[in-house]
Amino acid sequence: MAQISVSSPADFHVHLRQGKLAALVTPHVRKGGFSLAYIMPNLKPPVTTTAQALAYKAELEAIDPTVEYMMTLYLSPDLTPDEIVKAKEAGIAGVKSYPRGVTTNSDGGIESYEMYYPVFEAMQRVDMVLNLHGEVPSDSTTNTHVLNAEERFLPHLLSLHKAFPRLRIVLEHATTRAAVSAVKACGPTVACTITAHHLALTVDDWAGQSFNFCKPVAKYPDDRAALREVIKEAHPRFFLGSDSAPHPAQSKSTSTPAQGCAAGIYTSPILLPLVAQLLDSFGALNRLDGFVSTFGRRFYGRDLDIPQKTQVILRQTEKHFVEENYSGDGETVVPFWAGKEICWEIVD
Ligand code: NCD
Ligand code: DOR
Ligand code: ZN
Ligand code: ZN
Repeated sequence: MAQISVSSPADFHVHLRQGKLAALVTPHVRKGGFSLAYIMPNLKPPVTTTAQALAYKAELEAIDPTVEYMMTLYLSPDLTPDEIVKAKEAGIAGVKSYPRGVTTNSDGGIESYEMYYPVFEAMQRVDMVLNLHGEVPSDSTTNTHVLNAEERFLPHLLSLHKAFPRLRIVLEHATTRAAVSAVKACGPTVACTITAHHLALTVDDWAGQSFNFCKPVAKYPDDRAALREVIKEAHPRFFLGSDSAPHPAQSKSTSTPAQGCAAGIYTSPILLPLVAQLLDSFGALNRLDGFVSTFGRRFYGRDLDIPQKTQVILRQTEKHFVEENYSGDGETVVPFWAGKEICWEIVD
C-alpha cells in the first residue's frame, strides 16, 4: 500500500483551550502528526499580555513538551505599542483580531481597525504577524449574514495591506473564492490559512448537523473548489491552519436555544491523515508537504535546517475508523468524521 512522508508538519491555527480541556486536547497535536502549533488566544479571559501568553505557553509545554508552541495575543484596546515590543522580545509571534461577537469568546473583539493603527505600526516595525478572523458581524439592516460575512470583510484586508504593506498579515480559515482571489491579489506579506474541514464541507453539511458547525461556516461547492484549486496549484502563500476548535460535546449537541450551538470543529487528533485523504480525493496528494509544512514554515520564518527535520510517514490503511469521542477527567470531545472510515494512518 502507498506510503508518503512529510517533514515536520506545522499547524498554523489551533485552539488548545485551558485547564482540563487543554490537558485532554493538547496531546492530540502530536497524535495528529504535528510538531508545531500556532496557538489562538481566545481563552476566558483572552490572552492580552505577554505575561499571560508566556504562562499559557508554560501550561501547554507542561502537558506536551515535544511540540513547538507559537503564541499569539488577542487584539483589544488594552494592547499598546509598548506591549508589542515586549511581546516580540519574548518570542510571541502574532496578534489575532476577532470582529466583535462573531465567534467563540469574541465579545471583546474589534469594531473598527483605525484605532489600532499605532499597534499595527509597531507590529510592522518589529515584524509580528497580524492574524485576521475575516468576518464582519451579521447585521440585518445591511443584509449581512454568515454566508456573506467573509466576502464583506475583504475590503478591510485590502485597506490594512495598503496602509501597512510590510506588515505580515494572515487571513485565517478562508472559505470563499472571493477570499482566495483577494489574498492572491495582495503582495508577498499577505498569506492565508485553509482548514481541513473547509476542504470537505459545504453549506449542506452543517445545516442541521451541529458537529459540522464552525465559523466561518462552510460555503458553496464553488467556494470549496477554489480552496482545492489553490492547493493544487501549490501557491506558497496558502497553507494549513486547522482551526481545530474543541468544545465540550454537550455544548455542541444539546445547546439551549438561548446559547445556540458552539462554533468549532475538532480535527487535531486525525489531522495529518485527514488532510492526506482530502488532498488525495482531489488529486493534490503531491502538494501535501508544501501545504502542511514548507509554505507555512517559510512564511513564519520557521523553516527547518536538515538536522532538526523529522519525517512523519503516512500509509494507506483499511477498516480504520475515527474515534467516536475522546474523554478524560470529566471532559468529552467529539472529533470531525467521528465513526467514519479514514484510509490513511501515521506509521509510528
Ligand atoms: C471555552 C472552553 O474552554 O471550552 N472556550 C475557550 O476557552 N475558548 C468554552 C467555549 O469554547 O465556549
Ligand atoms: O468555529 C470556530 N471556533 N471559529 C472560530 O473562529 C473560533 C473557534 C473556537 O474558538 O471555538
Ligand atoms: Zn477565527
Ligand atoms: Zn480559530
